[in-house]
Amino acid sequence: MNTTKESTYALLVQQAQALVGSEPDEVANMANVAALIHETFHFWWTGFYRVVGDDLVLGPFQGPIACTRIAAGRGVCGAARQRRETVVVPDVELFPGHIACSSASRSEIVVPVFDKSGNVKAVLDIDSEHLATFDDVDARYLEQIAALFK
Ligand code: SME
Repeated sequence: MNTTKESTYALLVQQAQALVGSEPDEVANMANVAALIHETFHFWWTGFYRVVGDDLVLGPFQGPIACTRIAAGRGVCGAARQRRETVVVPDVELFPGHIACSSASRSEIVVPVFDKSGNVKAVLDIDSEHLATFDDVDARYLEQIAALFK
């Protein structure tokens, strides 16, 4: 079960490691990692929101135009930041406070990105136009990718 997805992710983590390991600029790395994930799985939207003061501010992404600024605690992104853990949402309509940047988005995963001190400095947000796209396999590998930004 999930062998194909696992092996795709395993390769993707290696590619992300190579990309991030050879470049110190974080924005450049977020841009390429978003592109890598997006191109591999053809998700609806793949990108980063960076913590800037109290807000989450749109960072490098692939996909349609998105909300630029998310206030503390708002939406799935705000929940992942506040809880300091990955949030998997199988049906966004059932998530209280979900921010609908696009009505096409049906399910979502948001993974916190920690700095070296353990503070959340960004979140990796992926949206799907299908219900229940993400599971613990996505969470596990995307957390490995997020850890490359420590
Ligand atoms: N749906 C997210 C907002 C960001 S966009 O989907 C790109 C949320 O509820 O946090």
